[in-house]
Order: sequence, then structure tokens, then C-alpha cells
Amino acid sequence: MSVSVHIFPDPPSLAEAAARAVVEVLGRCADPGGPCTLALAGGSTPVETYRTLVRRYREAMAWGEVTFLQGDERMVPPDHEDSNYGMARRELLSPLSVADEAVLRVPGEMGSPEAAAAAYEAELLRFFRTPPRAHPRIDLVLLGLGEDGHTASLMPECTRALEEAEHLVTWCRPPRLPHPRVSLSFPVLNAAREIVFLVSGRRKSKVLHRILEARNPEGLLPAQRIRPDGGRVRWLVDTDAARDLSPHLREEIAGESGADTI
Ligand code: 6PG
Repeated sequence: MSVSVHIFPDPPSLAEAAARAVVEVLGRCADPGGPCTLALAGGSTPVETYRTLVRRYREAMAWGEVTFLQGDERMVPPDHEDSNYGMARRELLSPLSVADEAVLRVPGEMGSPEAAAAAYEAELLRFFRTPPRAHPRIDLVLLGLGEDGHTASLMPECTRALEEAEHLVTWCRPPRLPHPRVSLSFPVLNAAREIVFLVSGRRKSKVLHRILEARNPEGLLPAQRIRPDGGRVRWLVDTDAARDLSPHLREEIAGESGADTI
């Protein structure tokens, strides 16, 4: 596994770098004969990246050769304002004319998160034609970071979901959040070829420091358990989110890669 951290001056330059990374990775998909697979992040941070892909990279990719997955979803219908699928459809998929058939989505409109997780997993198994007990290798997974160290919908309090070692998809009813959640599980995320975290804003600075630098004796935070064996992890962060990183890590980042080479 290789991990690199890249700091960008502001959200627009972070979004530009993230869009470039998406096109770079999908442009050299592992299996030229097969579809490129991209798992989309939810929440608000990725919106600017999706808009940048539409505005500046529409012609840079054969988007019809990409199959879009969801990293996670809130258990709401697609037209609900909290729907990650609804956001992706609005900000990325419709503007790029991505057909419904090219999207494997979590059926957030289903009553129970358990049923929705099982349905999404069945669709993934059908699509990837994964043999029993194997985990599909997604070409690129975009992930966000919550202030509590969660990523996708793998929340610190979702013990059963965090411990899921077999299923591709898991679910949780986080007590602090308005909707139950469905999420790709650690085994699938850690089978990915490439993972790009998108972290922006001052409110993420403390948790980013904890994730990248602290020991966390009380146990790893969910985002720290993203360790794709043989995969590549890139943290694309802006200066507000990086403000609590130690000076030596910032110098190291500046020395090794800087913002302009991702
Ligand atoms: C979700 C996301 C979640 C998100 C983080 C950061 O469904 O909310 O998948 O993991 O990426 O909570 O959210 P923001 O980008 O809105 O800060």
C-alpha cells in the first residue's frame, strides 16, 4: 500500500486535483476490456469535484465506459435532499449523460437498511461476477472524512458494520444521524486499486491530524482502517483541513509531492 498526502490552497484547487486524479485513474483502467469502476463519495465535499469533472473533463473521458457505484447511502429515496445518489445524479451523472444502467445504486427507498444492503450486494456480485468469498477490485473509490473519523458510512459507533469481514455491503442505524445508512464494507474498500480521500475545511483539521499523525490508543478510527493491500491511497486536502498537521509533516509533503503533482 502506498499513501500520499497533498495539500491544496483552497477548495477549487482541491476539486481540480481530484477531478484530474479521477480522469487519470479511469483513463488507465486495469482491465481495458472491461468497465472502469468508480465508487462515488457522498456528503458535500465531493460536489465541487463532480462539477469540475462536468465543466472541464466532459470530453477527457469515455464516460460511457465507466460503471458508477456508490460508496454509501442514506436510507432515503433518490429525490430526497439527503440522498447521495440524488446529489450524484444532479451534479455528475445527468450532466455527463450517464445512463441509469451504468450506475449501481443503493436502493435508499427500500424500507430497511438490511434489505437495501442485501439488494446492493446482490447487484455488485452480479456485476463483478465475483466468486464466493472473493472481493471485487474497484478501480477507484472516492471517500470523504467525517469529524468523528468515519468514512463512507462506517461510523465509529457502528461496531457490527465495522467488523463485517465477509459481506461486500453493510448497514447501520447511527443514533446521532437522521437516517439509517448503507455502506461498502472494509473488505471491499480495502480491495480497491486506488482510493482518493477528499477533505476540505477547518472543521476537519483536528480529525485529519488524528488520522494521519496521532497514535489513537483507544483504537483506530474507521478512516484509519482504510488500508488497501497493494492499493494506493491519496489524501487530497485543502490548507484549512491541514492546519493542525504538524510542521514536519507539512514540510515532508511539500518536499515530496507538493500540490501540483498528484
Ligand atoms: C455521507 C458520506 C460521508 C461523508 C463525510 C464527510 O454519506 O455523508 O459518505 O462519509 O463523506 O461525512 O461529509 P462532508 O463532505 O459533507 O463533510
